[in-house]
Amino acid sequence: MKQFERYLVTSALPYANGPLHLGHLAGAYLSADIFVRFQRLMGKDIVYICGSDENGAAITMRSLKEGLPPQEIVDKYDKLFREVFKGIGISFDYYHRTSDPLHHETAQEFFQNLYDKGEFVEKESEQYYDETAKMFLADRYILGTCPNCSHEEAYGDQCENCGSDLSPTELINPISTLSKEKPVLKKTKHWYLPLDKYEDWLREWIQTGKVGEEQLHYPEDWKNHVLGQCRSWLDGGLQARSMTRDLDWGVDVPQSIEGAEGKKLYVWMDAPIGYVSSTKAWAAENGKDWELYWKDEKSALIHFIGKDNIVFHCLIFPAILKAHGEYVLPVNVPANQFLNLEGKKLSTSKNWAVWVHDYLKDFPGKEDELRYALIKNMPELKDSEFTWKGYQDANNNELVNNLANFINRVVVLVNKYYEGVIPDYDEALMITAAENEDDMGYHESEMLLLYDNLDAMCSALRRYDFRSALKKIMDISSLGNQLLQFNAPWKMIKEDEDTVKVVMNLSMQYVTALSIALRPFLPFTSDKLRDLLNLERVTEKGELLDIMDDLAEGKNIIQIGHKINEPVHLFSRIEDDIIQDQRNKLIAGAMETIETEESNIKPTIAFEDFSKMDIRTATILEAEKVEKADKLLKLQVDLGFEKRTVVSGIAQFYNPQDIIGQEVLILANLAPRKIRGVESKGMILMAEDKDGKLSFVSPAKGWANGFSVS
Ligand code: MF3
Ligand code: ZN
Repeated sequence: MKQFERYLVTSALPYANGPLHLGHLAGAYLSADIFVRFQRLMGKDIVYICGSDENGAAITMRSLKEGLPPQEIVDKYDKLFREVFKGIGISFDYYHRTSDPLHHETAQEFFQNLYDKGEFVEKESEQYYDETAKMFLADRYILGTCPNCSHEEAYGDQCENCGSDLSPTELINPISTLSKEKPVLKKTKHWYLPLDKYEDWLREWIQTGKVGEEQLHYPEDWKNHVLGQCRSWLDGGLQARSMTRDLDWGVDVPQSIEGAEGKKLYVWMDAPIGYVSSTKAWAAENGKDWELYWKDEKSALIHFIGKDNIVFHCLIFPAILKAHGEYVLPVNVPANQFLNLEGKKLSTSKNWAVWVHDYLKDFPGKEDELRYALIKNMPELKDSEFTWKGYQDANNNELVNNLANFINRVVVLVNKYYEGVIPDYDEALMITAAENEDDMGYHESEMLLLYDNLDAMCSALRRYDFRSALKKIMDISSLGNQLLQFNAPWKMIKEDEDTVKVVMNLSMQYVTALSIALRPFLPFTSDKLRDLLNLERVTEKGELLDIMDDLAEGKNIIQIGHKINEPVHLFSRIEDDIIQDQRNKLIAGAMETIETEESNIKPTIAFEDFSKMDIRTATILEAEKVEKADKLLKLQVDLGFEKRTVVSGIAQFYNPQDIIGQEVLILANLAPRKIRGVESKGMILMAEDKDGKLSFVSPAKGWANGFSVS
């Protein structure tokens, strides 16, 4: 393993276009925060950088929706993010924003550098233009029917129904979201990064960790799903990607470049450079050298992100960094997968989300309880799920019954027997416990066991296996509980005071170790616990390394004669009604959104528009699954005067064998279309409920086929 002298850790810059939910936290922030706090506790030189992503179409769309200027939108969410991150204990060393002039300069310098080196290819292309709004349409401003699954509200860059990546010209019946009119194609010039040109070295770098002779990382340290996604992008062949946009909000293309007028940097060009600007701002305020962290080969750059950002951090940004030439490449990109919520995909637009600012308001003082539940279920290797029941159980069964119970019993007993003073004990005193190995004293062997558990926790943290690391903390607490249970000092105190001293001293060593070791996960609890122990709060300057050294040498980490404080409550039970309230709130929020959406009727059409549609009654004769398509069924339908094949996206709601004989309505004059190699002639009409569940719309039973519906 390559030895690094310093670390630069980043979390994805969140778009300042809406509040943060649990999925954000579990994706790119908690994981990075744990890692950084841990490395600080081990005495490492580490800087943790983030900021608000304030450019691009994500912002202008929100500004349109909220009816506020873009600057007001980003100010509002940037402010909220700062409060929320602080509230939940994400310990950035610097939080910057990409609307800051320092960022604009930095991003422009990058662009100019690549431009001067001839890295860009200038290309004219046809792009959708809204003639009413008089502007080119960013991908997200165009809605249309997905060519893969027929979902009618696919975006110009992606279909959220089937997940396929699209380009705007692939959409069937494109509509501008601005004017609701059909956009026209118009010529425009942009600068492209020829990713195909970098494909070879990117492949080698991803797969072997090498660029030329130099070993920059070890692929076996990377998560499989990250490597897998990179490989599939590479196998698909990388394409030149435009690094500029026709937009009126964002970082200007340097005006010295010919044709730059009215052009902005593509947000995925400027945003990752935000990591650099943020480091610069941090360095300037702290008297540090930002370049050491970005340009010295002994610096480890690590990006924490969600899986939707993998291609940008593993292929595109590295290509940009390498094209620039002076920068290091990331040694790891430990991306997380997605967090689902109560059985469904988290969705901002459907308001199916737990908002972090709401949580902080509803559960003041319970920040660590949320961190705990999220870390325990972190989607490290596959998608995972947050449920309120799971949250309640984690709190009641683990934080209260295990951790708080152990600490509380120790603190209560030490106060009761010794007035809070850590007791001295007889080193020679042995306990005939089964674990006694090699004639080691009980105290000594238990201290080594503690060391081993902490060491295992450290290894898990270095591997980005935060779930296992958290489990180790709970194991240590369980060991402590067993120690008490086994020796039962509350009984033993009557006959064997000397042994009780050994047990209580040892328990105090465990509690003290926990006050430091649980800090990456539960920082607020660490502070409470240190206050309770009457010890200085942890400042994250090598404290874990120090106690590990002491433990390895068999030294105590809380001293004999030290006086601790009276017991306080660290965690308390969360009752059913609180959990039910949260579930109700979630459902009420989603319902409200549906109501506003339902009343959000499409623009008025003329009767002639409607009468163009030829809708007929029909019956399903045959149905089968379409290979390699989860959502599609291939149907044979009888229209009375003819039989037809129709491909329909209903496989998740109906089994083929159950719908034979089903009477349906079909849009019979829809232009035929090839879907997964099958020619589909027409569309079955379906009703969609609030959860996206589809149901047939049919005529009264016993109608003949082929009758028209109007
Ligand atoms: N704003 C993007 C998102 O939320 C992430 C940007 S990460 C950066 O998906 F690298 F571009 F900064
Ligand atoms: Zn689709």
